[in-house]
Amino acid sequence: MNSLEKSFILGRRLASAVDGTLRVITEKTTGHQYACKSVDWSDSIAVLHARAEINMLERLRGHPNIITYHGHFEDRGQLHIVMDLEGNDLCSHLRETGPCPEKEAARVLKAVVSAIAFCHERGVMHRDIKPDNILLPSRKSGYENVKLADFGTSADFSDRRRFRDVEGTIYYVAPEVLTGTGYDENVDIWGLGILLYVILSGYLPFHGNTEADIFWNIKTRSLNLNRSPWREISAQAKDLLKGMLQKNPHRRLGLADFMAHPWLNRKETNESDSQSEPEDMLIDSEPEDMLID
Ligand SMILES: Nc1ncnc2c1ncn2[C@@H]1O[C@H](COP(=O)(O)OP(=O)(O)OP(=O)(O)O)[C@@H](O)[C@H]1O
Ligand SMILES: [Mg+2]
Repeated sequence: MNSLEKSFILGRRLASAVDGTLRVITEKTTGHQYACKSVDWSDSIAVLHARAEINMLERLRGHPNIITYHGHFEDRGQLHIVMDLEGNDLCSHLRETGPCPEKEAARVLKAVVSAIAFCHERGVMHRDIKPDNILLPSRKSGYENVKLADFGTSADFSDRRRFRDVEGTIYYVAPEVLTGTGYDENVDIWGLGILLYVILSGYLPFHGNTEADIFWNIKTRSLNLNRSPWREISAQAKDLLKGMLQKNPHRRLGLADFMAHPWLNRKETNESDSQSEPEDMLIDSEPEDMLID
């Protein structure tokens, strides 16, 4: 019996992560359930990411919108990271329900931005913001309780060096990561911009048939907010997106301006946000840039 199995019963698989496996585990003494990410020692890249993740999660304890870390186990075959068990990730949620109305989108964004501000204050950039890495609460509660997860590719920028390594997920990677000119924590604002675009529309702004096409479009193609469903989305939301998805990182909205933006701080009213039917949109328009493949 390995060290994890002394204290926990291994349960159902949650997901196959790029770096390993996510599973539900149950503590024998309390019956409490947790999520556990396990990586094989033989996969050196996965181990590197897991070690980085443990280090960052220890450093980022205590924020309500960052996944809560409970410790790790090392046994002969694997390294295990134990954290709170959350519900669906936002990617699966969007697949099931379609894009979010603006009011809900603002609540998700506000929560994720608060988590990112906490990271940046501690000298950590996430580098892989995307719906798959945002977890909805396991019990029914609001979008303001989403948790940012997956710190495997996050990095310490406290020494203010310029980064050049290409990390992240292809559709979400910032242009300056691809040009090789060096980048900083501003890449997280770009990632948040792509996230907001996807949450509001169900589509990715920059796509392509090959990795080279996608990267070319990220670097050169201008943001098109004129076609469906953007005609029905507020000017304020589009103004925010344009600020976040500036290709030049020096012209991109800073975190403080972003947090102060009126769209993010819109008053919660009962008036319904005008959006076209999510189902229609996901089936009928431009399938090649859909989030859902
Ligand atoms: N604490 C958790 N509670 C519930 N589900 C989780 C939890 N952590 C991760 N998951 C699920 O497992 C998936 C993969 O987890 P994570 O992103 O941490 O792994 P990864 O190896 O970094 O994967 P990838 O590289 O694909 O992002 C998430 O998208 C989510 O669906
Ligand atoms: Mg992930």
